[in-house]
Amino acid sequence: MGRLLLTSGQVSVILSAIIVFAFTFALFLSGYVLQQRYVHNLQAAIKPRVPKALPVPKQIEPPTLDEKWARPVGERPQVEDTMAQYVNGQELDWSRLGYVQVVREHVELCSAVMLLSDLHRMKSPARRVLLFPKLWLQEAEDNGYSAEMSTTRRLLGTAARRYGVTLIPMEPILDGADGTLPSSYSLASLYSLVDYERLIYLQGPGVLLDASSLDSLLAFSKSEPMAAYPATPERNDMSMSLLMIHPTQASFQQLKAMRSTKPTSDLDLFREAFTVPGSLISEWSLSMGNVVYESQDLRTASNSFNATAFEQSTTFVRLSDPEIPGPEYDIPYSTRVKLRPQNEQAQEAWSKLYERFRQQRMEVCGLDLEYYSPLVLAGLAAGGVNDEL
Ligand SMILES: *[C@@H]1O[C@H](CO)[C@@H](O)[C@H](O)[C@H]1NC(C)=O
Repeated sequence: MGRLLLTSGQVSVILSAIIVFAFTFALFLSGYVLQQRYVHNLQAAIKPRVPKALPVPKQIEPPTLDEKWARPVGERPQVEDTMAQYVNGQELDWSRLGYVQVVREHVELCSAVMLLSDLHRMKSPARRVLLFPKLWLQEAEDNGYSAEMSTTRRLLGTAARRYGVTLIPMEPILDGADGTLPSSYSLASLYSLVDYERLIYLQGPGVLLDASSLDSLLAFSKSEPMAAYPATPERNDMSMSLLMIHPTQASFQQLKAMRSTKPTSDLDLFREAFTVPGSLISEWSLSMGNVVYESQDLRTASNSFNATAFEQSTTFVRLSDPEIPGPEYDIPYSTRVKLRPQNEQAQEAWSKLYERFRQQRMEVCGLDLEYYSPLVLAGLAAGGVNDEL
């Protein structure tokens, strides 16, 4: 048996190795503990339900997606700060986050309630809020409510009872304006909802395919006066299809004052009050897929369009085809055939969306599609959309 002899040089090498190992292990351990705490805090933050994971910061791959919205490489996510706050143990207060719909006339009410019912069905933890003309609360005179008003009152009741919607009556945007006119009301009234930290407004009518990515957007965004969906991929204008706002008295008073100087559309009012691109939703937030999609874009879908992939990656589809007055209308089958996308997969997706809307309208509002008047039909033919009509 030989004796184990170590020179002092060898001893120091072994000692260094042990020390390095010990430090590496300690680093690993602390990293592990931090990660566990991170996960725990994150779960605590997003009670009662964990929304879909944040968008991964990478380009969207499937060619069927609207690649134009994909995030340019290298941009830093704006949500990081907010994330850090939650990780530091700050609770996420869902009661101060919400989805809001605004209706100014009776015909808009069902579509608004449908959207809020989608959020209820998809178990979004955020609040659901509906703004409507205060005038609708007036008691009927001796001859009772009109048919229109009866339906409206029934739908308001359904929204509150069945879908947990908070009903908030609104006044005309200008003091003393005629409350019976839809034009007396403005989306600027959203800013009066100062009990909420952040609100998402979606422009209907449309079909919600996935609430969890909107929940993530609501939960992990900074509060900014206005974060609007860009109107173009170049981000040089805002659209109203999706707005995320942080309501304050100051913004509300400012918008009210601006509106009182001249009559203007809501879009023009917002364009004037908020600058682009500063007031647009960050590109990073939009990298999770098609956050807002317009049904008419299905008509120009590429050959590689995949209906399954489209549904999986799309959050909200606004049913908007210029020749159709709206998904609430029962347009003849022959017209529908001419308007629908040619691509087989896109056609399937398009028809499914309109059909889903029709069914839900019955289920949620108990309403059939509206009568499609020949006048609209004539306009359609005159527009040259359908020369054989
Ligand atoms: C369409 O997309 C789905 C889901 O991404 C995929 O499973 C399927 O194979 C695709 N179909 C075609 C024809 O590419």
